[in-house]
Amino acid sequence: MNRKVHITEVVLRDANQSQIATRLARSDFEDILETMDEAGYYSMEVWGGATFDSCLRFLDEDPWDRLRFIRSKVKKTKLQMLLRGQNILGYKHYSDDTVRAFVRKSVENGIDIIRIFDALNDPMNMATAIDECLKAGGHAQGTICYTISPIHTFENYVALGKKLESMGCNSLCIKDMAGIMSPQSAYDLVSALKKEVSLPIYVHSHSTTGLGPLTLLKSIEAGAAGVDTAISIFSGGTSHPATESMVYSLEEMGYSTGVDLKVCKKINDHFKPVQERFLKEGGLNPSVLQTKIDALNYQIPGGMLSNLISQLTGVGQLDKLDEVLLETPKVRKDLGYPPLVTPMSQMVGAQAVTNVLMGERYKSISKEVKAYLRGEYGKAPGEISQDLVKKALGDEKPYEGRFDDTIEPEIPGAKAYLKDLAESEEDVLSYVAFPQQAEAFLKERREKKALKVTYSIQEAE
Ligand code: CO
Repeated sequence: MNRKVHITEVVLRDANQSQIATRLARSDFEDILETMDEAGYYSMEVWGGATFDSCLRFLDEDPWDRLRFIRSKVKKTKLQMLLRGQNILGYKHYSDDTVRAFVRKSVENGIDIIRIFDALNDPMNMATAIDECLKAGGHAQGTICYTISPIHTFENYVALGKKLESMGCNSLCIKDMAGIMSPQSAYDLVSALKKEVSLPIYVHSHSTTGLGPLTLLKSIEAGAAGVDTAISIFSGGTSHPATESMVYSLEEMGYSTGVDLKVCKKINDHFKPVQERFLKEGGLNPSVLQTKIDALNYQIPGGMLSNLISQLTGVGQLDKLDEVLLETPKVRKDLGYPPLVTPMSQMVGAQAVTNVLMGERYKSISKEVKAYLRGEYGKAPGEISQDLVKKALGDEKPYEGRFDDTIEPEIPGAKAYLKDLAESEEDVLSYVAFPQQAEAFLKERREKKALKVTYSIQEAE
């Protein structure tokens, strides 16, 4: 029998996030969900990442309601989300009670698979989410963030894979958020993991540098269980390899994907006018569709490079870009080589810019970097510069144990504050995750409801 390869369609989450800043509204996809359920995907990534924040902040949608709606239309296909471990969907560490409640409610509202990652690859930052996901009956996918540095060796990745397996994960994901994993590295890494770990391995990459499709194909040759792709109209560039091309190639090579290309065509036809609208209205910048190899040259993600450029342009000092690009890897080394993914990419980039613009390294140290040095983000992958720790913290000692143990439970306070503004535990969680956005959203919802009541009373009269 042909070996089966699982296809995860990511148009509603990562392609949406990578190409159009997570602005897909429910009205953009509600009519195609039942068709997507017929495509034969192993899973659909539909929630988590930046979608939650974006629903509250820009789309005037209740993110929980969006998930329940998707679940009501997608009955057969597994639904998947991305979760930043102890950061859940935000940018700081939350208390354990928040992480547990969030994970449990995600599963209760329809999520099957939770892909759990940490920006530092620190398993302790994923432990609570993994434990609760398993308790709630979900599939916990432990994640290895792929990056390039002197300490990110295959041995270390394999050790992390084994650790995640011992923590009870149902599968592993290699997450190449910057699209810098080469086809050969992917082949070697998947092969190395398969020797030591018995879990199915999923590979996530982006098309940013043009390596994505090749990298996914070599991963499958090495025995990966599945890969992430996006329907063609929302594929390529900062997004992902195209679903249809991947399925076409794999089937011809003798793999079976279970994905029906005729159904894919219907899905693509649905999203074509949506993509055209975003292009026309400026929500989709054509430059994100290009292949850019800068990330390979500088070994920093494309999104981070464009942030550096815009920060320098903002202060009229773009001529300092070369200096900043030399300083960035030095800051990263001082911080113990964190992978350059949110929030570490922003932290390292901003500090490098400050170091160059001030003309003296670490003359000013951001509060985020100080918190990182104190251990508030978990354990650094490598050695942190002790000179930097001394300069930033003085006599203050970094946390020895797990910082998250010092965070007080957050839910009781949030409940007391919101009172009847929160109509469910989900509302409380939205508030804990994003206080300002959620409070504004909940207040507006209450006003709209009051207005509706007034109208219906008037109509009745
Ligand atoms: Co991604």
